[in-house]
Amino acid sequence: MTSNLRIRKADDMHIHLRQGELLAKVLPHTASQCARALVMPNTTPPIVTADDLNNYRNSIQKLLKTEDAFVPLMTFRVMPTTTPAMVKDHKRAGATAGKLYPEGVTTNSEGGVKDLQTLYPVYKAMEEEGLVLCLHGEVPGVFSLDRETAFLETLRTLAKDFPKLKIVLEHATTADAIDTVLKLSANVAATLTAHHLRITLDDVIGDKLNPHVFCKPIAKRPADRDALLKAATSGNPKFFLGSDSAPHPVESKECACGAAGVYTAPVLLPVLAETFESAGHLDKLESFTSRFGAEFYRLPLNEQYIELHRESWTVENQYGGVVPFMAGHRFAWKLSSASSSSKANKTKQTAKSSA
Ligand code: NCD
Ligand code: ZN
Repeated sequence: MTSNLRIRKADDMHIHLRQGELLAKVLPHTASQCARALVMPNTTPPIVTADDLNNYRNSIQKLLKTEDAFVPLMTFRVMPTTTPAMVKDHKRAGATAGKLYPEGVTTNSEGGVKDLQTLYPVYKAMEEEGLVLCLHGEVPGVFSLDRETAFLETLRTLAKDFPKLKIVLEHATTADAIDTVLKLSANVAATLTAHHLRITLDDVIGDKLNPHVFCKPIAKRPADRDALLKAATSGNPKFFLGSDSAPHPVESKECACGAAGVYTAPVLLPVLAETFESAGHLDKLESFTSRFGAEFYRLPLNEQYIELHRESWTVENQYGGVVPFMAGHRFAWKLSSASSSSKANKTKQTAKSSA
């Protein structure tokens, strides 16, 4: 049985790092497991101008330790007010992608887009500048379980109208979404979260209400989860990791009107190793976490490595006032301490078996 795993550090292509004190608390978890992460712009206020983007990047970089060698990939929010000139400014500021939230669809999406058609000049500019369009693919107001499916026609239309634009359907949660992405061209991909590979709606509301797995899009049916797991472990490069780790202080989750978001960052690779192993596809883990995202975003593969070993450990109930995904769970895979290393020190590049 494999007892050590050595893989390229992850590229987490969808993360919420927040601001201020919360940013300082959550960043080390991501920086220690990921070489890069695509940082979502739904801050307060949101990242809408190139100055916002530069300032946010600086506030992240200030908190990094040299040994982290972590690169935040920056995004801007595609707003009703975004113009092609602003897209060019973002490109000059080093943006990787623009994120579009339909108005009111999730945490901090106020002022989002009501009519996606009105932004065609913006998508055109993004296509020309080689910026990726990341979509929160849900239609607000539709019944919760059907919101993602209702969005898929828009995805098909955008893919047809902008054949050279790279589009990511973020945090796909349905079998319908997987089918749709599979049928579209190679320019359309989907991120998958660790939690949607594990849970269904029953984990949220089937027994007692669990606010810590309440997120947007909401987890769906067992058949949907199975389709996501199949896609993640299939070795198809259209599907890669975007954790959507979305920390909220415990008091914002455990209350009436609780916030949406699951905090997976502290347990990201242990959860994924366990999930891929249970599915019998541990060999597909590294390409999902560390190759396909980079290739889609046309980034060189990162040259840092991380190790996990088989050791049973229990997840804390809270990290810095935030309840992590699977708090209290006993995991079989543990991050090896100081496991991050560069290629220069090591020779093997893929998951290795020591047994
Ligand atoms: C995210 C957040 O808290 O910022 N919440 C969530 O439920 N996923 C926003 C998002 O990605 O929808
Ligand atoms: Zn998100």
